[in-house]
Amino acid sequence: MSQIDWQRLHSCAVAAMKTAYAPYSKFPVGVAALVNDGRIVTGCNVENASYGLGLCAECGLVSHLCSTGGGRLVAIVCVDGQGDFLAPCGRCRQLLFEHGGPEALLMTDDGPQSMAAILPWAFGPGDLDRNER
Ligand code: THU
Repeated sequence: MSQIDWQRLHSCAVAAMKTAYAPYSKFPVGVAALVNDGRIVTGCNVENASYGLGLCAECGLVSHLCSTGGGRLVAIVCVDGQGDFLAPCGRCRQLLFEHGGPEALLMTDDGPQSMAAILPWAFGPGDLDRNER
């Protein structure tokens, strides 16, 4: 995988954020990720009148990933309505970890951080093998 174009990922995340459906929180979120085959997938949050049913932007991103051929997330940018880097919620860290693993990178105000740092001591697909011990 060649150099990561973080600026392009940021632009894609901002574009996705602009499509968010967030009439209740008024807190639009966008996310974009580079996949290991070179394509870029995106997502935005989609809220619901039944508040608890709202979907985070990362849910949309994972759906986009799977519905366009799958693969592994390599680099991720998540932004708020100002285009500033956003810390994914706990549930979404788990979603990103599932599809990127500990080495996937998330852009933060302190630069790119590994998912191993963003979700320390994570539960992941490998833990399911414990049943076979
Ligand atoms: N939100 C996301 O889309 N992703 C996150 O990681 C954090 C929160 C959304 C959910 C809700 O629509 C709005 O931001 C306010 O919580």
